[in-house]
Amino acid sequence: MYPDLNGKTVIITGAATGIGKACAIRFGQESANVVINYHSDKQVKETEKIIEEIKHSGGNAVAVQGDVTKEEDIKNLIRSAVETFGSLDIMINNAGIENEVPSHELTLEDWNKVISTNLTGQFLGCREALDYFLENDIQGSIVNMSSVHEIIPWPHFVHYAASKGGIKLMTQTLALEYAPKKIRINSIAPGAINTPINAEKFSDPKLKEGVLKLIPMGYIGEPEEIAATAVWLASTQASYVTGLTLIADGGMTLYPGFQAGKG
Ligand code: BGC
Repeated sequence: MYPDLNGKTVIITGAATGIGKACAIRFGQESANVVINYHSDKQVKETEKIIEEIKHSGGNAVAVQGDVTKEEDIKNLIRSAVETFGSLDIMINNAGIENEVPSHELTLEDWNKVISTNLTGQFLGCREALDYFLENDIQGSIVNMSSVHEIIPWPHFVHYAASKGGIKLMTQTLALEYAPKKIRINSIAPGAINTPINAEKFSDPKLKEGVLKLIPMGYIGEPEEIAATAVWLASTQASYVTGLTLIADGGMTLYPGFQAGKG
């Protein structure tokens, strides 16, 4: 547990499902005030359940609809956090999408959609949080959700890999720029995690087997294992950590093909 997170206000984008949801619940367990951002009206019921769970575990929560690609929606998220809880201390830029297409067939529309959600959306989240932190003299913390694909090339997902590669240098650049203000900006690179985005893939035994071969630790990660890294990065336990990509991937980035020692 991280006592310094008690009473802190955190915004988590894309928090209705998957890793974002696990982060929301975990910050709730740390008695934080959680702003759950969600995208679609269809997710309202899910966010209500998350709010209930957070309140039950001692935290506080509110759900705010918004599209991370829209400046006005991101501004509204910050406004809602401040109006509801009085401040903003932590921004978790988590919302992301992916789709599989051979690169020579990828439409400009699909490219733009993934880049604007995954990369531009995170930039807007960073920019607005930074602006608020600076104006209010808050030594806040930002955590961007990246992926092992900020390192590992991923055929058929060039837009996704490009967005995650962009997050890496965006995080490092912002970390360098705002270090003198003691604002910390880090990212997390999850590997294969049990989330709705991957549900179809992992429900096919053959596809799942293929993914497991890429994970030296031999299992698909749980969203809670990623949330555990997010609370640490956001807490004062990580007070001297900035510009880091924390890899949580069961060893996926360790060249699993070399596991038997050949080469
Ligand atoms: C993707 C997953 C994928 C994993 C490992 C993640 O960033 O969202 O779909 O299984 O990387 O390749």
